[in-house]
Amino acid sequence: MHRAGVGPADGQLSQQRSEGQVNPERQEAEPVLEVKGLDVRYRTTRGDVTAVKGVDLTVRRGEILGIAGESGSGKTTLAVALLRLLRPPGHVAGGEITFHPRGGQPVDLLRMDERRLRALRWRSLSYLPQGSMNSMNPVMRVGAQFRDVILEHAGDRRREVDAMVPRLLRQVGLEPRVARMYPHELSGGMKQRALMAMSIALEPDLVVADEPTTALDVTIQRVILQSLGDLRDEFGVTLVVISHDMGVHAQLVDRVAVMYEGEVVEVGDVRQVFKQPRHPYTRSLIESIPRIGEAPWQEQRKGGRAS
Ligand SMILES: Nc1ncnc2c1ncn2[C@@H]1O[C@H](COP(=O)(O)OP(=O)(O)OP(=O)(O)O)[C@@H](O)[C@H]1O
Ligand SMILES: [Mg+2]
Repeated sequence: MHRAGVGPADGQLSQQRSEGQVNPERQEAEPVLEVKGLDVRYRTTRGDVTAVKGVDLTVRRGEILGIAGESGSGKTTLAVALLRLLRPPGHVAGGEITFHPRGGQPVDLLRMDERRLRALRWRSLSYLPQGSMNSMNPVMRVGAQFRDVILEHAGDRRREVDAMVPRLLRQVGLEPRVARMYPHELSGGMKQRALMAMSIALEPDLVVADEPTTALDVTIQRVILQSLGDLRDEFGVTLVVISHDMGVHAQLVDRVAVMYEGEVVEVGDVRQVFKQPRHPYTRSLIESIPRIGEAPWQEQRKGGRAS
């Protein structure tokens, strides 16, 4: 376990991280997603605006890759383009995205037909959109929403579905009774965890979570980060976690890619990036993190999950 506390601006993070074990297997792990020279533009009345420029990025199996950068730097655009969820006026102007499904042949995501792409949704590629907490159906119990997603995308699991829901809820630290509740009966953090459970329901190769802790208070943020960490540590989920908050990356991710004006200006092992940021913009992002001292949840993680 090598999660670090917050307050890395004083070198605390790099010190704590370097004491932890880097999993050599993970460093050498096969890619899940390979992105080369990705360009994404938005058509506007004043011409095209480039939101993602020449991005090269690899997501490795079993890792948590962070995507950092200020508001408007292109994080969400990159995420939706990666999963081919980009909608007009957005369009991919160039590049390649190769997805390596578990035990299957690599596929060219940008050229794949809609029908095959649809078969990958939830089962192979899962997305937790920015602000998705507010996207749950208010008049449906949580368990029924799980059933709908599971049966829509994996009808063959009809017989298992009742047993799956409580197990999935437990995986993110929620009581099975949450299945009988309506979204308005859940706190923001519980909703976010329920969505995380849904995103892993069909054991996807990759989950992309866009700002999963934003809009939650600090205590709840810690619980969400812990649950995300557990998904990887205990269930081997590969995660891309997008956050403008460098503190989130400090606490959670293995490698971090820093975006600035649509470009990935730096990518590397998170401890290395915090210790020796190569790009001046990365340095300023790190310096902007408030120093709060070591986070108490780090202790909780060592002893198992918090409830
Ligand atoms: N539908 C759109 N039409 C035109 N421009 C857009 C559209 N969506 C995003 N953009 C532009 O693309 C750029 C990147 O936006 P994006 O939402 O990807 O940034 P972000 O890093 O996710 O920001 P935030 O941290 O605020 O979520 C911005 O300049 C934004 O104005
Ligand atoms: Mg965004």
